[in-house]
Amino acid sequence: MARRKIIAGNWKMNMTPSQAVALIETLKPLVKKDDVDVVFCVPAIDIIPAIEAAKDTNIQIGAENMYFEEKGAYTGEISPEMLVDAGVKYVIIGHSERREYFAETDETVNKKVLKAFEHDLTPIICCGETLTQREQGVTIDFIRQQIKIAFLNVTAQQAADAVIAYEPIWAIGTGKVATTEQAQEVCKAIRDCIAEIYDEATAAAIRIQYGGSVSASSAPELFAQADIDGGLVGGASLKKDFGQIVNYNK
Ligand code: PGA
Repeated sequence: MARRKIIAGNWKMNMTPSQAVALIETLKPLVKKDDVDVVFCVPAIDIIPAIEAAKDTNIQIGAENMYFEEKGAYTGEISPEMLVDAGVKYVIIGHSERREYFAETDETVNKKVLKAFEHDLTPIICCGETLTQREQGVTIDFIRQQIKIAFLNVTAQQAADAVIAYEPIWAIGTGKVATTEQAQEVCKAIRDCIAEIYDEATAAAIRIQYGGSVSASSAPELFAQADIDGGLVGGASLKKDFGQIVNYNK
């Protein structure tokens, strides 16, 4: 069975609530497409107006982060229940910027992934190596470790529904996109790792995105690779280009 592509925007810390609504109005007609899942992952404060603005469209609104506890004294955090109640289906977990600036670790990523599934949220689980790791030739080892820890105690059924985003850190926001071969090689290694942890059926079902300077011009070739099921797009998701990315095969 062919996997359905999933193309997600990661807005990061951009767009005020009113700007978010305006951007969705602009992008709405451009990202219309039946055969892919289109997700806009937006800042927490934009979620409610974004869901309202995206009503009756094919755009689904996702979150960029959530906490792994149910509720309580965690000032500033957002709970899974809050996301679900707002109408969110997807949540980015463990983006490299959260690992770098907000001390997230493979262990907190695992806790968040488990908690997301508990609430029927689909996690978009991020992994990716640094330039040093790539130069040292340990990319695949490093990614396998990130994946194995992220999926601890996750069932095969849950894993089949997960989304993994492979984002080489050196390619994020740098305009330096990984070559198609590099991206496919690691996405295949991730799928093989999932087959090892679970089985072939789970590996065949899980969706793996590439992220890191995806643009309207690089998307068609990247998304045509056997193991790349779409993209996680930062900078280009804030522009009309995102419409071309979603329509990469037209
Ligand atoms: P970029 O960001 O497309 O701006 O490189 C991707 C990401 O961080 O998800």
